Amino acid sequence: MKLWDKGGQVDAQIENFTVGMDRELDHQLAKYDVLGSIAHITMLESIDLLEKEELLLLVEELRRIYHEIEEGNFKIEEGVEDVHSQVELILTERLGDLGKKIHSGRSRNDQVLVDLKLFFRDKIREVVGDVVELFLSLMKRADKHKGVLIPGYTHLQVAMPSSFGLWFGAYAESLIDDVISLQSAYKISNQNPLGSAAGYGSSFPLNRQMTTDLLRFESMNYNVVYAQMGRGRVEKNVAFGLANVASTLSKMAMDVCLYMSQNFDFLTLPDALTTGSSIMPHKKNPDVFELLRSHCNRIQGLPNQITLMMNNLPSGYFRDLQLIKEEILPAIDDLQECIHIAQYAIDNLKIKDHIIEDPKYRLVFSVEEVNKRVLDGVPFRDAYKQVGQEIEAGQFETDLQVHHTHEGSIGNLCLAQVKLKMQHMIDQFNFEKLDEMKEDLIGE
Ligand code: ARG
Repeated sequence: MKLWDKGGQVDAQIENFTVGMDRELDHQLAKYDVLGSIAHITMLESIDLLEKEELLLLVEELRRIYHEIEEGNFKIEEGVEDVHSQVELILTERLGDLGKKIHSGRSRNDQVLVDLKLFFRDKIREVVGDVVELFLSLMKRADKHKGVLIPGYTHLQVAMPSSFGLWFGAYAESLIDDVISLQSAYKISNQNPLGSAAGYGSSFPLNRQMTTDLLRFESMNYNVVYAQMGRGRVEKNVAFGLANVASTLSKMAMDVCLYMSQNFDFLTLPDALTTGSSIMPHKKNPDVFELLRSHCNRIQGLPNQITLMMNNLPSGYFRDLQLIKEEILPAIDDLQECIHIAQYAIDNLKIKDHIIEDPKYRLVFSVEEVNKRVLDGVPFRDAYKQVGQEIEAGQFETDLQVHHTHEGSIGNLCLAQVKLKMQHMIDQFNFEKLDEMKEDLIGE
C-alpha cells in the first residue's frame, strides 16, 4: 500500500531499496505518530475540516491503535512503506473513507518530523534518568573514598596529590555538563514542526498554536521552510548530547583500565566482572571497560556521521534524511546500555588503600612542601628553589599530609553543591508536561 498510489507499477527492487530499514525503525515512532495524528485531527475539527462525530470516531480508533502499539500488537505490514502509511491504512480498514480524511493539511515530511521530536523528548527523558542514576552512584563513591589519596598526573607524570573523592566526583560533575547538552537537544526537539506539511505550509487555515499546545511543545518552528530544515539538525543536536555523555564514560573507562593495570594498581574489579585469556592463565582483564570505551568512542562519531549525511543538502525535503534514523535510533539504545553497564561496574569497583604511601609517589608532595614554607614567610620562588634543590640532592622529606580547603579541592569536595547543581538542571526540563500530554490525548 502506498499513500501516493495512483495506479502505476512500482519496481520491486527500487521499492525494497527506498523503504530500506523503515519498517523496523518506524516501529519505534508508532506511538508518537498516533499522538501527532490525534493532535492534528483535533485541530482539523476546530477549523471545520472534520465533523465533531467524525473526530470522536477517529480519536477512539487512534487511541485503540495506541494501546495496540503498547501491547505489542502493532505491525508495519509487508508492502506498507512506513508507520505513517500503516496507521492511515488501519484507520481506513476500520472506519472506511473517514480514515482517508486525516491527512488534510499535512505531509509525511512534517509527520516524520513531529514523530521524531516527540520520540526524542521521551528518549532524552530516559537518558537523563539513567545519567542521574550513574551520577548518584559516583557521588556516593566520591563521598565514601574522599580520604583515599592517589597521585594526580600531568603529562602522565606524577604531579600533585589527588584522591578518589576527587576522581569519582569529577566524573559526576562532568555528567552535569552532559545533561546541559541534552537539555539543549531537548529544547531544539521541543518545537512544533506540524503544519509545515511538505515544507511550504498549506492553504488550509491550520491552527498551529493549537497543535503546539496539545502536544505540549514549548514553542513552534514558525517558518515552515525552517521547520523542514530541522530534519537532520534535530538528530544532530541529540547526537551531540549523546556524544557528550559518551565522552565522559569513555574517559572514565580509560582511567579505570589504566588504574587497574599492575603498574598503577589503584583499584580492582571482582573476578566475576573480569574476563580471562585463552593462553595466559593469570589474566583478569577489564574487558567491560574496554568495550565501554569502544562503544562510547563510536557514539562520539555520530554527530560527524550525521553532518556528513546532510552535507550540502539544499533546503527542502530529501529522502537522504531517512537514513539518519538508522544512525541515531540504535545509538540511543547503545548509550543507555553503556550507562547501565558503567553504573554496574562502577558500583563494583574495589578501591585499594595506602596507595600514596608508596615511595615512588613521594614527589607529589613537593608543592605541599613549597606552600608550607610560603605560609612560614618564604617568598614562593625561593621556596620553590629550596625544595627543587633538595629533590635534586635526594634530600626531600615529606609527611604525606595535605591541607586543601578551597571549594572543589581534596579537603572540600562540595558534594552538596554539586548535587544541587544537577537538581537545578533536571528541574528545568519540565518533564511532567509529557505525562500531561499523554493524559490529555490518550485519556489516561
Ligand atoms: N520515511 C520517510 C523519511 O523518513 C518519510 C517521509 C517520506 N516523504 C517523502 N516525501 N517521500 O523521511
